[in-house]
Amino acid sequence: MSGKPAYDWNNVYEQARSLIESGECKPQFAALARALNISRPTIQQAFLREFGLYAADLKNLASKSRSDEVESVEPDGNGDVKIKVKGNSMTVEGGKRITTLKQLIEAAEIDLDEWEIERHVINKWEVAGKFGHAGSEHFELQDLRQVKAWLVRRKPVAQEPVVSPVVLKIQAVKKPQPKKADWKIALGLFDPHVGFLRDQRTADLTALHDRAALDVSLQLAQDLKPDVLAFGGDWLDLAEWSDKFARSPDMWFTTQPAVIEAAWWMAHFKMTSPDARTVMIPGNHENRLVKSLLSHMLQAYDLRSADGLDLPPLLSIERLLGLQSMGIEYTENYPDGSIWLNDQVEIEHGDVTASRSGATATKVVEDSVHTRIFGHIHRTELAYKTLRGSSGYRRIAAFSPGCLCHVDGRVPGAGKDTNWQQGIAVIYFKDDGEHIIHPVGIDNGMAFFQGRLYEAREDACDELDEIVKQAMATPTA
Ligand SMILES: [Fe+2]
Ligand SMILES: [Fe+2]
Repeated sequence: MSGKPAYDWNNVYEQARSLIESGECKPQFAALARALNISRPTIQQAFLREFGLYAADLKNLASKSRSDEVESVEPDGNGDVKIKVKGNSMTVEGGKRITTLKQLIEAAEIDLDEWEIERHVINKWEVAGKFGHAGSEHFELQDLRQVKAWLVRRKPVAQEPVVSPVVLKIQAVKKPQPKKADWKIALGLFDPHVGFLRDQRTADLTALHDRAALDVSLQLAQDLKPDVLAFGGDWLDLAEWSDKFARSPDMWFTTQPAVIEAAWWMAHFKMTSPDARTVMIPGNHENRLVKSLLSHMLQAYDLRSADGLDLPPLLSIERLLGLQSMGIEYTENYPDGSIWLNDQVEIEHGDVTASRSGATATKVVEDSVHTRIFGHIHRTELAYKTLRGSSGYRRIAAFSPGCLCHVDGRVPGAGKDTNWQQGIAVIYFKDDGEHIIHPVGIDNGMAFFQGRLYEAREDACDELDEIVKQAMATPTA
């Protein structure tokens, strides 16, 4: 007789499960071995051999019932039936004395109210048997059969765990940045209408432009460091230069502080990205200067100083704002001026207007075969169109980001029911024509972009206040 103890492994399994379930034992073979006084290799090998369990499976043992997993019974004591139960399935295999399905079910004592026979097979084969006494043996062929059945529970029971939580490992990912080698960033700033109305009694100035919106845009430019800066027209309101409507005395002699303030903002935008291509595209309001000269002072039109014949005319937007000294390009006059970011994207001031929200962008995109980014309407509108060509599909847009002036009707000609919105354009683009548009809406001195809140700073314009006050200290009349 062997010296090794014989274990009832089904009983050991139940004891192990109970120990782990009660917390008396850690789900480890070493701990179970100590608690059950069985050597660790013996229990570990037996659990693998008998139940197919590895060390990692022990932690799940507490939630499992052995009877739900595998059960073997031998009703007649001759090993004539083998039963395996796993969850809601059962396989029953008959021995040599079982030749029919009915015999198999009866021998295995299966309750057919609980189990349903899903399918069965009866394998038959012949073997030669030796019969008779010694010296007179003879051989006969015998039929042997094996019956096997697969059954399922009529009322399935829940298998634990019924639902396993999905565990996701979430790791912080590096914030993606556009590859500067391929993608560039353009910032489009439209329609601040820099200008003032001066109270005739107190001489207080009311700005037409919204310093809060401009400061939010400036902070965003400081973060973006764009490759292209586009001042998209109507940067100066030039109310007193227009004869389109009756000019009130409030508008007179406000050009000087407006010019100083507009140049201050442009210089600060330029400083956010000194190497950026920076362009001013004049709008219809800058064109007021040209039209006024042509109508009322033709002799001053295109007039240059003797020591600056190569410079822009004396009475021009370029000279008034000092664009050359700031390194800012100036395009053709309105409405022809525009710049192209690549062969698919054009930035212009725009000259199309429709009264309903969204109608201008709809009209522009209908009439276009490339993306056009424009101001002039002071509304935020974006419309796309997909074009089919020989090389595939191409998406183009008409985009008006909105303005940077006040939207409360104070800008001359606006009216109290004006339908304007503030915003700026951020355009990611590649030289090959690809481009992605990001509208950035501004509301009450606040904007969100790339997950960051931008708010206007209260002291951002302190220096500017002083400069403008000095410019207005000795108004000429
Ligand atoms: Fe405008
Ligand atoms: Fe305009």
